[in-house]
Amino acid sequence: MIPGDNLPRSPGLRLLVRPTLPIGLVLMNAPPPLPSIALPSRHLLGIDGMSATEIVGLLDLAEEAVAVSRQIEKKKAVLRGRTQINLFFEASTRTQSSFELAGKRLGADVMNMAVGNSAVKKGETVIDTAMTLNAMRPDILVVRHYAAGAVELLAQKVSCSVINAGDGVHEHPTQALLDALTIRRHKGTISGLTVAICGDIAHSRVARSNILLLNTLGARVRVVGPSTLLPTGIERLGVEVFTDMRSGLADVDIIMMLRLQRERMEGSFVPSVREYFHFFGLDERKLAYAKPDALVMHPGPMNRGVEIDSAVADGKRSLIGEQVEMGVAVRMAVLEALAAHLPNN
Ligand code: NCD
Repeated sequence: MIPGDNLPRSPGLRLLVRPTLPIGLVLMNAPPPLPSIALPSRHLLGIDGMSATEIVGLLDLAEEAVAVSRQIEKKKAVLRGRTQINLFFEASTRTQSSFELAGKRLGADVMNMAVGNSAVKKGETVIDTAMTLNAMRPDILVVRHYAAGAVELLAQKVSCSVINAGDGVHEHPTQALLDALTIRRHKGTISGLTVAICGDIAHSRVARSNILLLNTLGARVRVVGPSTLLPTGIERLGVEVFTDMRSGLADVDIIMMLRLQRERMEGSFVPSVREYFHFFGLDERKLAYAKPDALVMHPGPMNRGVEIDSAVADGKRSLIGEQVEMGVAVRMAVLEALAAHLPNN
C-alpha cells in the first residue's frame, strides 16, 4: 500500500485503474474496461503538487504502453489527427526522440523544433516563439528550456497543453516518472525502498523531480555528493545528506548516478575529474557498499570514467538501458492522460 494512496482525490481528477486480476480470470471473462486517467490540469509542469494517486495512475498507464511498444497489445491511436510540437531550447537527443516516438505511437503528427538554431539566435523571446507556434494551433507542446520556470511561463500564454521536458535546474517530471516505473518493475514497489541519488545534485532537475516523486511514494531518499555539489537546505526536501559514498550507499536498494553537469557550472566545483571519480565515481568497489541486490540507474547521457565506471554501467545490475525503454512508455502515458483535456474529448 502506498502512503497517500487513500488520500482524497484532487478536484477534477478522474481515475479508473484496471484491477489486477489473475491471468486465468482475465482470459475467462470479458476484458476489463481500459483505464482512463485524466490529470487535474491540462499541463504537466512538474512532480511538485502531484498526488500519489496521480503518479501511480500514470505508472499503471505506462505499464500498458510498454505492452503496446513491445507489440503485445494493440496500439491506441488516442492522438490521431492531433499535432504535437517538440520545442527544445536546449540540445537533447534521448528526451526529444523519446517524446517523438511516444507521440507517433499514439498516432499524433509530431514536429520537432530545435529553437536553439533559429529564432532565439535572432533575439526572439520565449513568449514570442511560443505565440508563433500557438498560432499554428498545435494540441500539445513539449518544451525544454535552459531557464527554470520558463516552461510554466510559456504554459500560461498558450492555449494548448504543455509538457515540461526539463526546465533549467528546476524539474524534469517525465524522467522521474520513468525512473519510478523502472524501479517498480524490478522491486515491485517504491514504498519502503532506500534510494541514493549521487553526484551533482546542485545542477540537477532530475534529482529534484526524483526527490519529490520518491518521497510522495514513500521511499527513503538520500543524496550523496561533495558538499560543493549539494545545495544548502536540501534536507528541507526530506532527504538524508551524505558526503561520502561508503556511508551514503550503505544498505541502499537503488543507486541513481547523475551526470557531472559541467556546462551549468560557473567556476570550479570539483578539483579534477580524476579526483571526482576516485571519491564519487561508481565502480565495483563502491557498489559493494550497497545491498547485494542493489540496482544502478543513470538518466544519461553518461560521462564514463567520471561519475560511473563502464564495468558498472554495462554490468548486470545496471537498469540504464531499460530506463530508455520506459521513457517512451511513460511519455505515452502522459500524452494519453493529457489527451482527455483536448477539445472534443
Ligand atoms: C537529463 C537532463 O537533461 O536533465 N538527461 C535527460 O533528460 N536525458 C540529465 C542530464 O542532462 O544529465
